[in-house]
Amino acid sequence: MANFAIVGATGLVGTKMIERLGESKLKVDNIYLMASSRSAGRVLEFRGRDVVVEELNEHSFDKDIDYAIFSAGGTTSLKFAPIAEEHGAIVIDNSSAWRMEEDIDLIVPECNYPKLKRRIIANPNCSTIQSVVPLKPLIDKYGVKRISYTTYQAVSGSGKGGIDDLINGRDGQAPKKYPHPIYNNVLPHIDVFLDNGYTKEEMKMIEETKKILNLGDEVSITATCARVPVLNSHSVEINITLERSAEVEDIRNILSKAPGVIVVDDPQNNIYPMAIEATGRDEVFVGRIRRDISQANSFHIWCVADNIRKGAASNAVQIAEMLEENR
Ligand code: A2P
Repeated sequence: MANFAIVGATGLVGTKMIERLGESKLKVDNIYLMASSRSAGRVLEFRGRDVVVEELNEHSFDKDIDYAIFSAGGTTSLKFAPIAEEHGAIVIDNSSAWRMEEDIDLIVPECNYPKLKRRIIANPNCSTIQSVVPLKPLIDKYGVKRISYTTYQAVSGSGKGGIDDLINGRDGQAPKKYPHPIYNNVLPHIDVFLDNGYTKEEMKMIEETKKILNLGDEVSITATCARVPVLNSHSVEINITLERSAEVEDIRNILSKAPGVIVVDDPQNNIYPMAIEATGRDEVFVGRIRRDISQANSFHIWCVADNIRKGAASNAVQIAEMLEENR
């Protein structure tokens, strides 16, 4: 039995966390749902019972809470995660605020296990999570020299505002979340631009991949991230150069046995991973597995996952499941 808090419970990811925790085998004794003062008093449902949303404040963690799962933005995490930690909870934080801190674990349960130097565990960036799940077993077997990512990211990754911009854009309404219309458009721009010309999203993918998979600076990684007019589920084209030679069949075999991965790869029959089929699932779907004819030991993999589930809520709940299983 464990007590849970979900901070940011009224948001897109928070709502999915409640749903995913409800589906989990975890025994939840008490659940506390927290959000801003705007949502205090709202009633949400968890496993068929009504739970009243509380306003998050300095005293929210005075109660006995085992796991506090945060998805309320970086500023809220920076302020409240240490308070929850101090009161004995294990924080699982979906924001980017803590991810690259040296003493903070950055965890994808299929790939790594927390050392728990601190009781704050970071949930990685959505596109990173779905990419490292299939990469891990390939890199374990063949080593890696280089990874190149190109993403096609759904608007749900920007929260409710992103979804509104796509839906309202169909009627010609001006965007509020994005700097340009996303309806009938593609934006090569996710998060802010940095001095090196990359966006912060692109640098998150590069740095987080290295941290999760424990890769040194001898491995080169690059990324281009684009927002596409898709409601949900991100697609990532992964181009990987392995250290040791492999055949396409080897890659397919390893991926077909990899935890959390489903191979969908029958292009002759128009069968490959697609966003509309990944939505609602926790697995990462891979296909179009083929040799990159432009360079040695290199392969293309098309990788699709539900960014709100595996890319955020489900990964966070899976971290709690993993810790409870090993308690
Ligand atoms: P609220 O709904 O009360 O604003 P999304 O990413 O979908 O916009 O969701 C963000 C989540 O984070 C919501 O649950 C939101 O609550 C919550 N949130 C945002 N700012 C704060 C804050 N300062 N304190 C507590 N919760 C916050």
